[in-house]
Order: sequence, then C-alpha cells, then structure tokens
Amino acid sequence: MKVPFTWKPTGWFMIAWSEQIPVGAAIPLRYFGGHQVAYRDEAGVAHVLDAHCPHLGAHLGHGGKVNGDCIECPYHGWGYGPDGVNRYIPYEDRPNVSHALKAWPVIEQHECVFVWHDPAGGPPRWELPNVFELAPEVGSSDSGDYYRAYPELSNFYSREPVHPQIVLENAPDSVHFKYVHNAGSDPVLEHWEATGTRYDTIAGWPNPRTNSPDDIALRIYSYAAGVGASFAVFDGVEHYRLIFFTTPVDDETSDMFYSIWWPRASGDPSPAPPPETQERVRRLYLQTLLDDLGIWRHQIYIETPAFAKQDAKPYGALRKWARQFYEIEP
Ligand code: FES
Ligand SMILES: [Fe+2]
Repeated sequence: MKVPFTWKPTGWFMIAWSEQIPVGAAIPLRYFGGHQVAYRDEAGVAHVLDAHCPHLGAHLGHGGKVNGDCIECPYHGWGYGPDGVNRYIPYEDRPNVSHALKAWPVIEQHECVFVWHDPAGGPPRWELPNVFELAPEVGSSDSGDYYRAYPELSNFYSREPVHPQIVLENAPDSVHFKYVHNAGSDPVLEHWEATGTRYDTIAGWPNPRTNSPDDIALRIYSYAAGVGASFAVFDGVEHYRLIFFTTPVDDETSDMFYSIWWPRASGDPSPAPPPETQERVRRLYLQTLLDDLGIWRHQIYIETPAFAKQDAKPYGALRKWARQFYEIEP
C-alpha cells in the first residue's frame, strides 16, 4: 500500500506475546526495515537489541544464547548486555566497547511485549494504557477477571500490506460496520476526541427493536495511543476487551497482533477459556479482523476522500492527529 507518510512512525509497537519469549530464549525479529533480536534474561526481563553482532555480523537471534542478563553471539561467543554494549569476549581479558548495538526500550504488560520506536533514537515520550484500566465507565477490572488472551484468543497476521493508520481509520468509520461486519444497523459515533497522543471514540449501537439513539444496546470504547496501538472495550449483552497492534515490518507491510480478553466465568480457576467459549469467541469476534483484512489487502490510500457527511469531521481529525507521529519523510 502506497501512503504519503512514513512507515517509520514514532511510538509503542507490539513485537510479541510474552509467552513467545520464554526465559533463556532469543528470537529473531524484523521490524522498521531492520533486524532485531528479542531475548528474556535469566531474571525474566525481556530485552530487544539490533540483531547483527558488531564483531563480524552474525545474527544474535539465530542461535544466540542467554547468559545472565547478556545475549551471547553464536559465532565467537561475545556477550552483550541489555544496553547493547559488549560485556565480555571469552578469549580476551577485556570487552570491546567501541561499537554498541542499539537497545530498544521495552515494556511488557498484560502478556504483551512492546518496543518504543523513534527514528531519531529518543527515549519514550508517553505511556501505553493498560487494557484493564480503560473505560472505567464500564466498571473497574483487573487481569484476574478475564481469561488469558494468548494463545487461545489471539491472532497474528504477518506481513500484511497495511499501514498502521489504516487500522485506526476503522474507529470513526461508522458506515463500514453494516457492510464489512454484517452489523444490523449503523452505530452512532457518540464521542470522539483527539488529545495529545490519544485519539478516543465511543460508538453506540441502538437497540434494533427501538432503533432509538436513547436506547443503546452496545457501546465500543476505542482508544488509540499512537498510530500502531489500539485498544477497545465492548460493553453490551457481552463484554470483552481487546488490543489490536500494527507494527511495520518494512516500507510496505506490517505484522498485526490481535488479542481478546474474555470475562472469566465465576468460580472457574482455569487460565484458558473453556473450549466452547474459545470456539464461540473465535468465530464471532476474533474473525472480524479477517473481514477488515479482506478490504485492506486490496485498498489504496485516498488522500482526499469523498467522505460521508457524518464521517468527515472525526475522520479528518484522526488524519490530522496521526501526522504528529510521522517525524521523518516517507
Ligand atoms: S560475529 Fe559475533 S562474536 Fe563474532
Ligand atoms: Fe472494521
């Protein structure tokens, strides 16, 4: 997909579910046109570094070993700390600190691992919300109130030709629900607000029996925290929370991470949802992303869209808001 803005936006981006990086593991990553390695040290902390060893260029994510808090190169055993600086050379008495690997800021919350990407290399400038703390109107919650999202209620799509902004444009797009997601009626965009690095919306679906805007049967609270990060809380007959992260791989494709947290049945101690719940949630709610992908995979980006009247303002505001994350030219 050709877009008139960069595929290297500033912000937090998801790179894995926590369980994909067990203690002692090192895995290769490919994001923002580069190569990285993610590893979890012996104390359980996840780290992300650029992948290629400054010694002779081996990839630390293909055969690298975790040693304490270091990642050890598979080629000649040089060890690098979480700051990307060489800590030891096994056959010499001092390290070579002349070339450090780039160390990516990492946060890990609600079973997901995120990196901070800034093309200028600056430190994180905002925080990501916690999925369990959003939409306090719906009632407070914590992770214990829900089944785990990964792996049962999560989907991963690799290298899709979709820029992260296209995903966000779904939230104010109230018309597509009827056509793409077979919704019985159009939602009312009850609220939208672009503040700083957040863009939040509330969409309400009137009860189909009355079809009155005063009788809302389902509300979706959506939160974008930067251009690759979206969160939503569904509140109606059924309630659940989700995240949808889009992380650019290169200047044409992105990886997509989609997870649903489904409320735990009272008294059920199992971390995973029961099989019937898994099947139903996957069929009814996890698959909706495929509906959108069916459009996105073939869509082109229109700079001056022929807006429907109700969409013009919130959509325009979203596009204007998104520009703050594009700090370099395409
Ligand atoms: S290439 Fe990594 S230690 Fe030689
Ligand atoms: Fe959609």
